Amino acid sequence: MSEMNKDIEKILFTAEEIEEAIEKVGKIITEDYRDKNLVVIGILKGSVVFFADAIRKIDLPCECDFMSVSSYGNAAVSSGRVLINKDITTVVEGKDVLILEDIVDTGKTLAYLRDHVFLSRGAKSFEICSLLDKPSGRVAPVDVKYKCFEAPNEFLVGYGLDYAEKYRNLPYIGVLKREVYM
Ligand code: PRP
Repeated sequence: MSEMNKDIEKILFTAEEIEEAIEKVGKIITEDYRDKNLVVIGILKGSVVFFADAIRKIDLPCECDFMSVSSYGNAAVSSGRVLINKDITTVVEGKDVLILEDIVDTGKTLAYLRDHVFLSRGAKSFEICSLLDKPSGRVAPVDVKYKCFEAPNEFLVGYGLDYAEKYRNLPYIGVLKREVYM
């Protein structure tokens, strides 16, 4: 029994449900990207757990890379500009970029990366695969083509998602108890 469980209000998606959902989405991606030049990019750190599981369900040759970004601080929040802490080293020109994310909320992060990084570097196509999609939070126009689950408006942790950098290593996705973050 994990010591972290005491901070969890309820389990939203079990490890088994997550595994099943990834298997399904991996099959669809495998069909869609046959004969394409696939580059899979994980956005650190939230995507690491999902990334590791998802790429093993994509049964195609592909390149993998990672990027670390953070939002720029208050003045820039409305502009959606993001700071690139760690860039990819892969050349994406002419290739089919698939981003793997843990959650898409406002969409600002990925709208910025799509427009100012991947498309401006000449990617042939750009799509997003996210473990969780939260359309209720959307501010920037971002389409999540491949998703495992829709996220409710609650504080979620686990399977890569953190609160103050903790809980990423929970094997399931849970709702954090209010008393932990209030
Ligand atoms: C989360 C998530 C996305 C971003 C989505 O990362 O992993 O990258 O926020 O939010 P948006 O759609 O509102 O732009 P976070 O900044 O929490 O960093 P982390 O991945 O290191 O936890």
